[in-house]
Amino acid sequence: RKKVTIMDLQQAKKDGRKLVMLTAYDYPFGQIMDLAEVDIVLVGDSLGMVVMGLDGTSQVTMDEMIHHIKAVMRGCKSAFVVGDMPFMSYNTSIRDAVINAGRLMKEGGCDCVKLEGGVDFAPTVEAIVKAGIPVQGHIGLTPQTASALGGFKAQGRNAESAYQIIEDAKALEAAGCFSLIVEAVPHKVSKIIAETVKIPVIGIGAGPDVDGQVLVTHDMLGLFDKFTPRFVRKYAQIRPFILDALKNYRTEVMEGTFPGPENSFTISDEALEQVKA
Ligand code: KIV
Ligand code: NA
Repeated sequence: RKKVTIMDLQQAKKDGRKLVMLTAYDYPFGQIMDLAEVDIVLVGDSLGMVVMGLDGTSQVTMDEMIHHIKAVMRGCKSAFVVGDMPFMSYNTSIRDAVINAGRLMKEGGCDCVKLEGGVDFAPTVEAIVKAGIPVQGHIGLTPQTASALGGFKAQGRNAESAYQIIEDAKALEAAGCFSLIVEAVPHKVSKIIAETVKIPVIGIGAGPDVDGQVLVTHDMLGLFDKFTPRFVRKYAQIRPFILDALKNYRTEVMEGTFPGPENSFTISDEALEQVKA
């Protein structure tokens, strides 16, 4: 498959072809995303939770993001790769935002950046886009600032809040975002957003009437089980498979049946005699 481009993503919306997006945090998952022909791979700051075991995403650093983006880029050759901007890498000033977006692109090597926020972040998006870096927006439930939103809960469930999210979408499109993530918003509100903006709207907990879907891979594979949001569908339960393999290994090590002859190296009898002599 040849490299997915922003033009391909925007054409998909025009053609009514749904976009497929998942997260990845390392090289093997990056490779498998390409094999599965996933359109967009997000190196999400969700890595704080599903890879690092933190309670949220707000402690993830620029250096951690770059470390994981580099690993994913070595595996992902055809999917379009989004690098998530961590909390406080773009919130302090527009200058910081441009510098840090540049670091994700240059040091990480991703194809674009993503940041959370609506109308308030339109000038930030505009500055990053002007610097030549494509930006994906992220509105609705914004996990980095979830505590300020009153926890991990759906947004846009009353008229005022729904109106605000639609305004956020319009402002981000006008600021130059090439695409938007809409998270945990009533499906009828997401539908309005997808119909209002021309750029592809990728939903997570936003219902089916958007231009594509994204999930956290470790959630949909049943690899992360601390909690599962309502909007996740489990496509596999891989923890028990891993656990079984580890238990079998433990048993075989303890009983001495691993390693077998096929796992061991040989030396000639002659050489062995010389060593012993
Ligand atoms: O970090 C992440 O995985 C995300 C997705 C939930 C969109 O931002
Ligand atoms: Na994120």
